[in-house]
Order: sequence, then structure tokens, then C-alpha cells
Amino acid sequence: MNLSWKTAILTWASSWLGKSIAWKLIAQGVTVIALARTEEKLQQVQNEFWAEHYHYFVADISDKASIKNVAIQILATYDTIDLLINNAGIWHQGSTEEHSLDVLEQLLATNVFGVMGMINAFYPAIKKQKHGCIFTVNSLAGVEGNKDRSAYCGTKHALTGYMKYFREEAAADGIKVMQIHPWGMNTSLFETFKSGFGEQERMMDKEKVADIVLFMISQPADMNIDTLVVRKFFEQ
Ligand SMILES: NC(=O)c1ccc[n+]([C@@H]2O[C@H](COP(=O)([O-])OP(=O)(O)OC[C@H]3O[C@@H](n4cnc5c(N)ncnc54)[C@H](OP(=O)(O)O)[C@@H]3O)[C@@H](O)[C@H]2O)c1
Repeated sequence: MNLSWKTAILTWASSWLGKSIAWKLIAQGVTVIALARTEEKLQQVQNEFWAEHYHYFVADISDKASIKNVAIQILATYDTIDLLINNAGIWHQGSTEEHSLDVLEQLLATNVFGVMGMINAFYPAIKKQKHGCIFTVNSLAGVEGNKDRSAYCGTKHALTGYMKYFREEAAADGIKVMQIHPWGMNTSLFETFKSGFGEQERMMDKEKVADIVLFMISQPADMNIDTLVVRKFFEQ
């Protein structure tokens, strides 16, 4: 694997897909700067991993003040940030009436603002280096969708457009921009919606998705897999 990145900020880094990506990055010699809200979980993962390569900061990426605060701390601590992996995203399903204003606000704050806000906070520093990669874990819901998931699909579609046009801007600065659109994975995302997405066997293995993320970011300097849709393959 050809990984030229040495330092990676990773949001939602203490469980499920984020934890799998963190582990694989560390195995390739990357220092992971992990962000999540619960310190105990981050601490637990740090104890499981090579502690010297898994650094963490407590942050809520749905909150403007928290992003600003963590950016100040991180940029004062690290000389370079090679990779920013936005893995943040919460799920909600239900009819339009079931999406309360609070739910809508939280979906937008986490799924959309959480990604755009992190890019806004770190891009100036990454751009100055003229070397780096901004990666977003989007969703299949960012390119197609279903009824009863309109708000989640809407937030992920917003990211699809944002990443697409941000990519053009960043390319002029020598920075790669990528996004992946995975189908359902075996994570806790749907935990509160037991009847929702499907049975576990219909889900993709998050480890395999994390491998694909690593494949995308390990392309040579003159190659960019900017968008990838990944689905579970079912024999017909
Ligand atoms: N799972 C799927 O089937 C699926 C399918 C397609 C796309 N995706 C996308 O994949 C990404 C990862 O999903 P996942 O399934 O691994 O999620 P998950 O299981 O819900 O992961 C939760 C992680 O996010 C952290 N977190 C939650 N809210 C946060 C906040 N406001 N600020 C900072 N950290 C926060 C959690 O720690 P704390 O609670 O301590 O903060 C934990 O580390 C999301 O963007 C999701 O939309 C998932």
C-alpha cells in the first residue's frame, strides 16, 4: 500500500466504521487524531491501539464552538495535517411528520454542518501545505434514496454536491477530495430503528468498507478515485 499521508484527523473515530479506519491507518504508520464526544470511549480505543499513534480530542462536530475550539488545539499541536476524514453522520427514518424540528436540526448539524464545518476549520492549514486529502464518508443515500428517509437522504445529497464542487476548488490548490457512498454496514447506525434497513446479513462488513477507504486514499499522487459507490453484492 502506498500511503504518503502521515497525520490524519478522523471524526466519529471511537467506534464502528471510524474505529476500523483508524486501526487500518495506524497499521500503515499514520498517526490518527481521533474526534468524538465521549472521552471514555476514545480512551478505551486508545488503550486497545498503539497509544502513541492514536491521539484523541473530545469534540462535538455538530457544534460550531466545539469545532473552533478543537481546531485551535489541533493546529497548535501538529505541524502538518495530511488527511481529514469526515466520517460523521446520524441516521433518522420516518415520515415527514415524524421528523420533529429538533431531529431536523440535529441531522443538518451533524451530517452537513459537521462535515462542512470541519473542512472550513482545517482547509486553510491543509491548503498551505499544498499536499493533502479531504475524504468524506457519505452514503448510498447521497446518490439515491427511499421514502421515509427523506431528511437523511437530503443531508447526504447535500454533501454529494458540496464535495463535488469543493473538489474542483481544492484541485487548484493541489489537494485531493474524495467521497465514498456505501450501502448499509454492520454498525450501530440503525440501532434505534430495529425494523428499518434490513437484516444483518444484508449489511456490508465495515472492515471491507474500511479497506476500500484505505485503497482510495493510497492511490498514487497523480490518481484520484474521487467518488465511489459501494454496494453489497447479492447473487441473483
Ligand atoms: N452504518 C451504515 O449502514 C452506513 C451506511 C452508509 C453510510 N454510513 C455513514 O458512515 C459514517 C459512519 O457511520 P457509523 O455507522 O460507523 O456510525 P455510528 O456507528 O453511529 O458511529 C458513531 C461514532 O460517532 C461518534 N459521534 C456521534 N455523534 C458525534 C458528534 N456529534 N461529534 C463527534 N462524534 C460523534 C461516536 O462517538 P460519541 O458518541 O462518543 O461521540 C462514535 O465514535 C456516517 O457518516 C454514516 O452516515 C453508514
